[in-house]
Amino acid sequence: MAKSKKKKTVYFCQSCGNEAAKWVGRCLHCGEWNSLVEEKIPVSGSHSNVSLESSISLDAVSLGTARLSSEEASEQRLSTGIGELDRVLGGGLVSDGFVLLGGDPGIGKSTLLLQMLQGIVTAQPSQEFKLLYVSGEESVQQIQSRAKRLGCTANDRILLSAQTQIESVMGLVKKHQPGVLIIDSLQTFSSEEVESAPGSVTQVREVSYQLMNLAKQKSIAVFLVGHVTKEGGIAGPKVIEHMVDTVLYFEGDTALHYRLLRTVKNRFGSTKELGVFEMEGEGLKEVKNPSSLFLSERSIDVSGTAIGSSLEGSRALLVELQALVAPSSLNFPRRTAVGLDASRVSLLAAILERHLNLKLAERDLFFNVAGGLRLAEPACDLAAAAAIWSSYEEIDLPRDWLFLGEVGLTGEVRNVTQPEIRIQEAQKLGFKVAVIPKAAKKRCEKIQGIKLACVETVGDLKKVFQTSALSMSSQPSASDRQVPLR
Ligand code: TYD
Ligand code: MG
Repeated sequence: MAKSKKKKTVYFCQSCGNEAAKWVGRCLHCGEWNSLVEEKIPVSGSHSNVSLESSISLDAVSLGTARLSSEEASEQRLSTGIGELDRVLGGGLVSDGFVLLGGDPGIGKSTLLLQMLQGIVTAQPSQEFKLLYVSGEESVQQIQSRAKRLGCTANDRILLSAQTQIESVMGLVKKHQPGVLIIDSLQTFSSEEVESAPGSVTQVREVSYQLMNLAKQKSIAVFLVGHVTKEGGIAGPKVIEHMVDTVLYFEGDTALHYRLLRTVKNRFGSTKELGVFEMEGEGLKEVKNPSSLFLSERSIDVSGTAIGSSLEGSRALLVELQALVAPSSLNFPRRTAVGLDASRVSLLAAILERHLNLKLAERDLFFNVAGGLRLAEPACDLAAAAAIWSSYEEIDLPRDWLFLGEVGLTGEVRNVTQPEIRIQEAQKLGFKVAVIPKAAKKRCEKIQGIKLACVETVGDLKKVFQTSALSMSSQPSASDRQVPLR
């Protein structure tokens, strides 16, 4: 049927998905060179009528399930058996949710989803729905041996299949009626209704479109794996983000053992959640106390490091910021930053130069966030400033101090969002002092077990350090919980 349909030729940028009527050497949208590829699409639109028809027929099979009100729907959440994953999904799996799991190849997407299947079965032992894992990348034997290594027990409810045609997946779904479907990965699947190669923009859209219909009309929770390459050589999952309910990104340096699962879009929950995992020999392990992961295990105080706090969703992570200030032999001293915006570091250096009289114009400044974490929050400014100051002055900052605050150009230290959550996290980990903006004092006064030192400007860092260092040497009493500064 579809073969007789009129087709038109268009050119898609394989990097950003932009459509062009003519071939050009450089994508006019994203500027990528040689990324336009000729694809044929049906004249009526990018989705063939056949796939629409088949989804209409699926509608008849959808048992006429009435749409649930959003309140009822929220009660229909399934636990994935993995707390960190439940959290980023907004409290568990939605029965007809369409989830895209993106990430670099080799980061652990297939591993996470296999573990999730086992988790769902373990968390809902009395349910009877099947779980179908379809891989276009690995053979069934390979998946089985990986599952065995991950400690997944043989279970009749988990079905595995190796396919690359989306029509075969539809057939499998019809046969087994699964409650959860995993497609690994989007770029390896194709529809026979579309002529383009697997991974091309037209195929990626068509496959996602059919899966979206499937999820909504048959109430199946569909997980779609999408590889993102830095070069953008294959159509990234960006072009289908609007079709899915939830977009999760799995990230981390493959050289480091921890992985972060972030919510980029979620129709069923907050987009600020973060799940932390560690990749071990037996698969991914949840990290219940992520702060411990990003703090170094030193037992002595050293100069050039300060602990700050980054708020990720509803949880605060403590992070170690490191600075190295060294004499420069260059006319333009170097400002190198890893994990923090380099222009932010230059800005802080200029502020410190003015307000703490540091001669940074003659020094190189190297900056790093321990553990490979990337920080976007200005709440870490004060910790970054403290690290630079400490390296410059060669003063050892105590490793049980927390620095919170956004630093303005005039040197003032501004309040941060939810300071109490961050301080409580530090207090739980045995921190002794929290250096906070004066404006945060009122909200944090009630927190027991940690001294609060309030600062108004970065210039106060020096004072607070001297005052607190003195009072720390004597036994702290309830009355000197707040270090008097002025
Ligand atoms: P994988 O889930 O195949 O990544 P993706 O599906 O995102 O491409 O994970 C592959 C990497 O994970 C591989 O480099 C090896 C590592 N790994 C472990 O370290 N331990 C394990 O138990 C497993 C299954 C994988
Ligand atoms: Mg994989």
